[in-house]
This record gives sequence, structure tokens and C-alpha cells, in this order.
Amino acid sequence: MKKKLSINAIKKAKNERLLTMITAYDALFASLLEESADIILVGDSLNMSFNGKPDTLSATLDQMIYHTNAVCNGAKNTFVICDMPFGTYNNPRAALKNAIRVYQESPADAVKIEGGKDKAALIKTLTDNGIAVCGHIGLLPQSVRGQGGYIVRGKTPEDIETLIEDAEAIEEAGAFCIVIEGVKAEAAQVVSKAVNIPIIGIGAGTEVDGQVLVFSDMLGLFEAFTPKFVKKYMDGATLVKQAVARYKSEVETKDFPSSEHTY
Ligand code: KIV
Repeated sequence: MKKKLSINAIKKAKNERLLTMITAYDALFASLLEESADIILVGDSLNMSFNGKPDTLSATLDQMIYHTNAVCNGAKNTFVICDMPFGTYNNPRAALKNAIRVYQESPADAVKIEGGKDKAALIKTLTDNGIAVCGHIGLLPQSVRGQGGYIVRGKTPEDIETLIEDAEAIEEAGAFCIVIEGVKAEAAQVVSKAVNIPIIGIGAGTEVDGQVLVFSDMLGLFEAFTPKFVKKYMDGATLVKQAVARYKSEVETKDFPSSEHTY
């Protein structure tokens, strides 16, 4: 049986092997993903692909805890990270109170916090209090309204320097890994080399310590839009639609249920 990774095993993976992180929002998909995933992220992206909202900002802590419990029920042997939603970590006190809620109300192994060196003190408060933290730097989806869009980072030497400082500050604050999103590949490579904890990329090229994708993107289930960095490993939307159309047709012709499916 697969053994759940510890934060030490995740840190040790750096320079030894590449880590595979995938999002999940429910027990069923978590159980299907767990065979291959090193880490499952209950991302606040669920507000878009699960809840149909235009961005992640209206996800609530109650929703994140609910979905984290579902994922943990489905993937008992996988390290699970719960994304802290927008507005739940504006200061160290609020972050600690809300991260404690995540630990007390779900079996989550860690929480994820978006932000760079501005969040380092807050991350230190969490790690000092026994909470495992994954950082998230680069393009920050929770800042999409404040920054006027999803803006790719790491295009200038100054911005690369900022990203390095962000990663170093988060490592220093005790985080065990960092997601880096929407960053030029050359910049992500330099950031990965600057710290001793794994840098997990999404839209950040190959020269990092692992990759993360949103499961509904990689399975081709989410049709609203496809960011450049998403690879669809199957055409899930077409397969689902074809299956349901076949079901409808068999309902109408009475080919379903056949004797095989009848008591
Ligand atoms: O919410 C999410 O799914 C994420 C990933 C895109 C890293 O933060």
C-alpha cells in the first residue's frame, strides 16, 4: 500500500526526484488520483471548477474545510494540503485562528498561503505553532482583482530578484515547500536553485522540483477556458457528454435497462 509522505520526505525529495501534486475537491476523484499523486491540493480553484464562480475570491473557509474532509476521506494515504481562502490570513492572528480551524476540523496535513515576503512573518507564526505551510508565489490568483488580471511574473531581472527574495523569506519562515505559478521558466529555475525546499511549478517550466495541475483541467473536464500551461491528458468533457448522450438515447429506445440490469 502507498505510504503517505511526511513534510520531511517532501523536503528530502528536492534534488532526488520530482514531485507530482494534483488538486482534488471530493472523495471520489481523490481516490482515483491518489495512486499517482504525491500530494493532493484542495485548491480554492474549486470555487471556479466545482462552484462555477469566475475566480477564487469567494471561496470560504467552511467550504475549504468541507472539501478537505471529503478529499481526506477518499485519499487516506496521500499528503493533503488545504488552501487558505482569500481573506482568512490578513494578519498573523487571523491566519493562526483559521489555520487551527483547518487542523481541528479536518485531517489536512498542511495549509497553503498565497504571497511572498510580505507573508513571511505570518507563515512563521503558523510554523512556530506546529502548522505545516506550503507557500505560493508568482502569479497569485487571489490578487487577480487587485492586480487587474492574471499577470505572468519573472520577466525582468528586478522581478526575478523579488521572486528569489519571496522564496527565501518563505523558506526562512519554516515552509516545507512552495508553489510557484505563472512564472517565466528561466525565473522559476533560478528560484528553485535559490532555496533548499521543493518549488512546485504550475505554468513555470520544467526546471523546478515538481508540478501541480488542477485535476479538472488536466482531465479535460473544465471547458470554460484553458490556460496556456494546461495540458489535457484526456478529453474528459467529450467522453462525459458522449456517455450521457448514449444513456439518454438508450432510455428513449428502452435499450436501458436490459435484462442484465433488471431484477
Ligand atoms: O487553487 C489551486 O488549485 C491552486 C493551484 C493552481 C496551485 O492554488
